[in-house]
Amino acid sequence: MISTQKRTLPCFSMQDKVCLVTGGARGLGLEFARAFVISGCTQLVILDLKQAEADSAAKELLDSARENGIDLTGLDLIGIECDVASEESVKIAFDQTRKRFGRVDAVVASAGIVENYPALEYPFDRARKLFDINVHGAYLTAREAAKVMIPNGGGSIVLVASMSASIVNVPQPQTPYNASKAAVKHMATSLAIEWAKTGVRRHNSSPGYTLTKLTKTILAGKPELKETWERLTPIGRLAEPEDLAGAVVFLASDASKFMTGTDLLIDGGYCAI
Ligand SMILES: NC(=O)c1ccc[n+]([C@@H]2O[C@H](COP(=O)([O-])OP(=O)(O)OC[C@H]3O[C@@H](n4cnc5c(N)ncnc54)[C@H](O)[C@@H]3O)[C@@H](O)[C@H]2O)c1
Repeated sequence: MISTQKRTLPCFSMQDKVCLVTGGARGLGLEFARAFVISGCTQLVILDLKQAEADSAAKELLDSARENGIDLTGLDLIGIECDVASEESVKIAFDQTRKRFGRVDAVVASAGIVENYPALEYPFDRARKLFDINVHGAYLTAREAAKVMIPNGGGSIVLVASMSASIVNVPQPQTPYNASKAAVKHMATSLAIEWAKTGVRRHNSSPGYTLTKLTKTILAGKPELKETWERLTPIGRLAEPEDLAGAVVFLASDASKFMTGTDLLIDGGYCAI
């Protein structure tokens, strides 16, 4: 009998790859990290703002993988405290990763925040902070990743943008967030072209509404807003974080090795109407 394992395209495997996820302590980042573990990655780094949260995510990943009977032989998984908005912090985190593992093959920049204020009332220091995390954080992550990847022959960098890079969300006002994600989307395309011959591939994954702490905070006590989001999503529901995992493994793995500069929408059809 042919096992399921043998019937999986080998190019989707993350076996022997060093993976790193920013914002990996919860939400989408944690699900992407889990997807890398399930896909066989042998070294994984979880970056997040607090060391304790990165460590507890790493422990949770190991515990749940064991509970599900996943063979963890050889897996080395660490958490590193890192503020992606700080150039120094990102440099130190990649330096630690390089010293520990020698290289990095797949990086997902998932750290990001959202806030809803009408543009006329948005406190400017908060808008600046949002850009520092969402835009400069993605840039610093990509740049430091590429510095490690290029001497090692390349790798794949996935920036988590959003469908908000392509559409204007309604009814909640979030202009700086939408603009930040449009910047991330075009940054990925621009860097993809700039680095195309180095072996470094650059992609966007652009999720639609997904149930994480980020969206649950916005939806708290607002059932009518959730209904509006569901109605505007052709598939008729919001995504669960695991709905996005396969797309990120595809972009991070050799399955997409002739692709770069891609923006992959995972939005339940939202942007198609
Ligand atoms: N949830 C959605 O519906 C949705 C939709 C589209 C895009 N996105 C994007 O996906 C990404 C992840 O969102 P999520 O829903 O998982 O959010 P989340 O709030 O659940 O998780 C975000 C993670 O990023 C970390 N983080 C925040 N600022 C950081 C910083 N400066 N340095 C390091 N880590 C930091 C947080 O501690 C947290 O662990 C974000 O970029 C978000 O914009 C989310």
